[in-house]
Amino acid sequence: MSRVLTNIRWLATCPAAGGPDDLGLITDAALAWRGGRIEWVGPAAELPAEYRSWPTEDAGGAGVIPGLIDCHTHLAFAGWRADEFAERCRGATYGEIAARGGGILRTVAATRAASEDELFARSLGFLREMAALGVTALECKSGYGLTVEDELKLLRVYRRLADAPPHLPLTATLLGAHVVPPEFRNDREGYLRLLCEDLIPRVEAESLAAFCDVFVEEGAFTPDEARRVFAAAEGHSLIPKLHADQLSDTGGAALAAEVGAVSADHLEFASDAGLSAMAEAGTVAVLLPFATLTTHVPPLDARRCLRACVRVAVATDFNPGSAPSYHLPFALSLACSLNRLTPAQALRGATINAARALHWDTLLGSLQPGKRADFVLLDAESVDHWLYHIRPNAAVGVFIGGERFR
Ligand code: NIG
Ligand code: FE
Repeated sequence: MSRVLTNIRWLATCPAAGGPDDLGLITDAALAWRGGRIEWVGPAAELPAEYRSWPTEDAGGAGVIPGLIDCHTHLAFAGWRADEFAERCRGATYGEIAARGGGILRTVAATRAASEDELFARSLGFLREMAALGVTALECKSGYGLTVEDELKLLRVYRRLADAPPHLPLTATLLGAHVVPPEFRNDREGYLRLLCEDLIPRVEAESLAAFCDVFVEEGAFTPDEARRVFAAAEGHSLIPKLHADQLSDTGGAALAAEVGAVSADHLEFASDAGLSAMAEAGTVAVLLPFATLTTHVPPLDARRCLRACVRVAVATDFNPGSAPSYHLPFALSLACSLNRLTPAQALRGATINAARALHWDTLLGSLQPGKRADFVLLDAESVDHWLYHIRPNAAVGVFIGGERFR
């Protein structure tokens, strides 16, 4: 199918080669695509003759951005934890709730009890609502199973989601090292062996994940335990990613650089030395402002990342504990107010830089010839206005692989 989108008031290409503020903005633009790939983008007045006979779609004067990429979610889980949210509002900390058996372990119990079909149906509902907001690609983590079979169950849910309409590019991450499950409370060594010697090889054998993540934190895993998990992961072609320095400085940012992680996520307590090491290693910093808000920790000033020349992405961290929302545009607005990104930087953070955090940047994240025709039509007069005026949904059109989703 070939098409030209016309009547575009402004279009942000988010070029891969650009600097942190470069939107590659075109006013009065046109966009041509065929077979799900972009062929041409530029000022409408310069549309080459060969595209003028192609069928058109009228953007109605909307703004156009690349499809948003949510590069950090825990999409598949059972149950919710609204009571813990209320407790935290009354002053309890995330750590206190976890220490008395709430938190992640509560979701683990509920998720173990759920069937693959139940988890699939629920996650597909979330995913379709995300797509309606303009999210056209995403990363999904396991981590609420914590037995070999339950982790594989979650990763199989993600494989089925990738194959289901609307066929979003979806990449999966093994987060077997989320926390030590209760049956291994007195045998951490046993759980690490299960992860490294049984689960990781099974994930590779079934090609169920591209990445391996570890939650490095007090109450979760130590840097040395993470090194061991990443060594096993790399031997089975899984690329490291890290939940780092979320609730305390454990040296997570430097560890991410040391193991060559593609991203380090959260980073509220990251040191300047850690950020410099990330810059050197090319590790992307992923801001998760929903989690910052609900855990009541001081936000990371993202200008520290930019000064250190670390690329910054923004994601939702959607999960039932620290981030119970998949509203990525709202997370971008928060990244501006809490983390001091500009709206332009935030948009790049959920497009080209999010693509980088998933090794997808040659295919996704910008509106450039050769990339997938994933884009969003916005009822907004500019990128600044879009993230300033927080609305239920400013997306008036969403195209996934060149097909109209809404
Ligand atoms: O990214 N930090 C660890 N994991 C999640 C929280 C998961 C949960 O509370 O269920 C996070 O914030
Ligand atoms: Fe997370």
